[in-house]
Amino acid sequence: MSIGIIGSGALGSSFARILAKAGISATISNSRGPESLASLVGELGPSIKAGTVEEAASADIVLAAVRWVDTESVFSRLPAWNGRIVIDGTNPVVFFDPNSPDAKDTSNPLAAYGIKAVDLGDKYSSEVFRQFVPGARVVKAFNHLDVNVLKEPQVAGGQRVLFYSGDDADAKAEIRKIIEATGFFAVDLGTLDVGGRLASLPFGALSSHNFIKI
Ligand SMILES: NC(=O)c1ccc[n+]([C@@H]2O[C@H](COP(=O)([O-])OP(=O)(O)OC[C@H]3O[C@@H](n4cnc5c(N)ncnc54)[C@H](OP(=O)(O)O)[C@@H]3O)[C@@H](O)[C@H]2O)c1
Repeated sequence: MSIGIIGSGALGSSFARILAKAGISATISNSRGPESLASLVGELGPSIKAGTVEEAASADIVLAAVRWVDTESVFSRLPAWNGRIVIDGTNPVVFFDPNSPDAKDTSNPLAAYGIKAVDLGDKYSSEVFRQFVPGARVVKAFNHLDVNVLKEPQVAGGQRVLFYSGDDADAKAEIRKIIEATGFFAVDLGTLDVGGRLASLPFGALSSHNFIKI
């Protein structure tokens, strides 16, 4: 199965790095075009190629690795998904300048981290996200850990746990294969409405929890 990555920042480049370490091929893209990725793909080796967003989006499995505020504009203009798999790696947070008034908002428990939660009403984030990718099979994964720990699948004599969830069993099985092939320990959290809520930052009960399977 081919893999595409949309977004080459902290998450997209980390995902590409863990795929490269496992010798898995992928096409990575960003807003600035393939030339801007020459140094990254040079570092990661021949399994990772730079492409346009459209090229990355044409893969069998596509990781969404853009900030929440950009998700709708990036994904809703892409061609039909026709049952292909989209990994929702996003989290519904907004980043702000540490010197902005937002940083002094005492009602925001996340202000010290330079982020605030996006108000989605009673919806969970993958429920909103999947509206931008109609016809895709959405699996929530690779979103619940900081990339600083995501880069090391094996640690402390065990395997780092990655959660995943989704409503399509075959799509989930494909993502489980990637999680396992890259050296992590995969834990199925069930359907999107259950697992998506549990593992989504900032307030999901399992978000940011860094478990190791010994
Ligand atoms: N950072 C983490 O530790 C972490 C961990 C798990 C999940 N996440 C989630 O992953 C998502 C990405 O976060 P991040 O920290 O990786 O953000 P980031 O470092 O700011 O990277 C965002 C990427 O999105 C790309 N992008 C923006 N607009 C685009 C467009 N129109 N077309 C194509 N690409 C576009 C940017 O392209 P350019 O490079 O060209 O600007 C950049 O490569 C967020 O939803 C975040 O919540 C982050």
